[in-house]
Amino acid sequence: GDVERVDDLIKRMTVEEKAGQMTCLADAFRPFNPPNPDAGIQDVKRLAQEIRKGRVGCLFNGIGVAGARRAQEMAVNDSRLGIPLIFAGDVIHGLKTIFPVPLGEASCFDPAMVRRTARAMAVEATAAGLHLTFAPMADVARDQRWGRVVEGAGEDVTLTALLTAARVRGFQGRDLRRDDSLLACPKHFAAYGAVAAGLEYGNVDISDETLRETHLPPFGSAFAAGALTTMAAFNEINGVPATADRELMTDILRGEMGFRGFVFSDYTADEELVAHGFAEDDRDAARLAVLAGVDMSMQSGLYIRYLPELVKSGAVPMGTIDVAVRRILYVKAAMGLFENPWRSLDEKAESSRIGAPAHIALAREAGTRSAVLLKNDGVLPLDPDKQQKIALIGPFGEDKDNLYGPWAFYGDPAKGVDIASGLRAALPDPAKLTVVVGCGIHEPLDGGIEAAVKAAKAADVVLLAVGESQDMSGEAQSRTVIEIPAAQQALADAIAATGKPTVVLLRHGRALALHEGVANANAVLATWFLGSEAGNAIADLVTGKADPSGKLPVSFPWESGQEPFFYDRKSTGRPVLDKGSTEYKARYSTTDNSARYPFGHGLSYTDFALDRLHVADPALRWDGTIEITVRLTNKGKRKGSEVVQLYIRDRVASRTRPIRELKRMERVTLDPGGSRTVRFTLSRIDLEFVGSGNKRIAEPGLFDIWVGQSSEGGLHSQITLYAAVAA
Ligand code: IFM
Repeated sequence: GDVERVDDLIKRMTVEEKAGQMTCLADAFRPFNPPNPDAGIQDVKRLAQEIRKGRVGCLFNGIGVAGARRAQEMAVNDSRLGIPLIFAGDVIHGLKTIFPVPLGEASCFDPAMVRRTARAMAVEATAAGLHLTFAPMADVARDQRWGRVVEGAGEDVTLTALLTAARVRGFQGRDLRRDDSLLACPKHFAAYGAVAAGLEYGNVDISDETLRETHLPPFGSAFAAGALTTMAAFNEINGVPATADRELMTDILRGEMGFRGFVFSDYTADEELVAHGFAEDDRDAARLAVLAGVDMSMQSGLYIRYLPELVKSGAVPMGTIDVAVRRILYVKAAMGLFENPWRSLDEKAESSRIGAPAHIALAREAGTRSAVLLKNDGVLPLDPDKQQKIALIGPFGEDKDNLYGPWAFYGDPAKGVDIASGLRAALPDPAKLTVVVGCGIHEPLDGGIEAAVKAAKAADVVLLAVGESQDMSGEAQSRTVIEIPAAQQALADAIAATGKPTVVLLRHGRALALHEGVANANAVLATWFLGSEAGNAIADLVTGKADPSGKLPVSFPWESGQEPFFYDRKSTGRPVLDKGSTEYKARYSTTDNSARYPFGHGLSYTDFALDRLHVADPALRWDGTIEITVRLTNKGKRKGSEVVQLYIRDRVASRTRPIRELKRMERVTLDPGGSRTVRFTLSRIDLEFVGSGNKRIAEPGLFDIWVGQSSEGGLHSQITLYAAVAA
């Protein structure tokens, strides 16, 4: 069995071989995602030697079966104990077939959808010789200035928890030993999405309650879904860098949360303990990280360099090393690597599974489902029979370099479908489409606005493709102002001045603060980075072949300065109310602290209405459940999908509670005139929060319930939780 095999190996391993298993290096044989030249081993001969000596346990960010097989042969055939390598990589939203960025895909509000795309990504990644992906990102992003918002499921804990678990299930499949099972690594543990002021790699100062209430649960659901690895976050929390935080990485992660797998450091994050001012030097950094519970060191090489001596000198007990190695070897065993080190190294799979037509079709489906229609005065969908003259204006109209978004470096941008190509394929008369760039992403173009205005005036309708480039979000891409770059705003304002009906096709990796010519357009479609099939998906939506059904996983504020901004905020003692003066209330002098487009918002081409909210019995017994039903009707003329959302508010509690919290959601597709009764069941568990002593508790009392189409408005009711009756 696995236990005996691992025990036996650990008995036979030298401390150096143990430190080797705890070392993960970028794959210099097949470099991708340009590695930091100052870290890892760049010299391929040296890397080969290290593998043969058993001084490496995992290679990352190289793809291709032939190269992986060569490296695996070095490990299995040439190293003393023949322990196979793990091949890891950042497959965040696709390998060659690129799916919408995770934040975009979160707009589906549909775990089944993200599970399907994660499965397809896993099939491609394992066909390319990978065993593990550094995904999904489980960080709840509370500040849109932070660039990595794009990699997660947005601002809400429940949505993030549901989608993170679905992604883990999709990546891993049902059986970890299958050659198309891709191990998941939910990251970054923890609270990376709470960095102060959205500054990447910045610091986190957070209460124990908020940590447990908002930032840990998505990890809990990822572990419950079977994730066997995680990654320590770059940031410090309350003065202790996560990588060196024993309370976080051991007491909380393993003690409280029951995590059984192994922990990666992030890229050179152990070494960075020195810059944090937490470790004296590299040796001290290795010591602190391993004692904290970080099992596998990524790219710094600190563990292989210092652990043998740290053990010898008694600074780190051998027992600590053994525990870490045991965790790593168990995971290798669980993946079936000892029985078959050549799993996922199959040239035939590599040529047949990557970029399969079914994956492309799925990317298009996911793309159409991920766009969010923020506003529409009726200009959309365009009527194909009318044969309108369309001007596609803006730097993202005919541009393949910004379709994929960050973290898609294995994908070939030339293979992506841009908006112009998508429209040309969809329109009955492509000659009626004029494409004008108008400006650069950041810079005006000589004569650009004039040409764009001329094209707009000659057209019946303008499609304005503006927003962020793909390198404006992602790692290390924090922004201070979350607006469209000035050159594009000027273009949008000039187009607005023509008075032509205008549809904004927004490209972006975060929520944006929209202004003037963009905000006031006749329609705004939020399209994130939709991936390989972006242009086809957008054409499907614009022409009405597909109905928009996405919902915002992040609130769009009025102004950048509202960040950090999220819908589940607290009331304050002076909330702005619907009626009455706003003087001396919790607002900014220029705007209420509300959203331009709230979390959960998203329109369709048809009209949905909710009625008949019914709570079977509003008295919830301590161990009971409560059933809530509501009727959804499609009142419009087209088939469409709506996401019915249930929110609660705890009216009075021993800790102030958010003004709303999402608890349930259900996506429903209805034909015109059709209606369906949606049923939700709640129990006390749904009403719990983290109270004093960091314990999840529920408190008897009154709760508001809203069932609606976004985090604002909706049908209202109330329930009361009653205390347990003593027997
Ligand atoms: O997986 C990533 C992580 O999210 C950020 N730093 C680098 C890692 C490996 O590429």
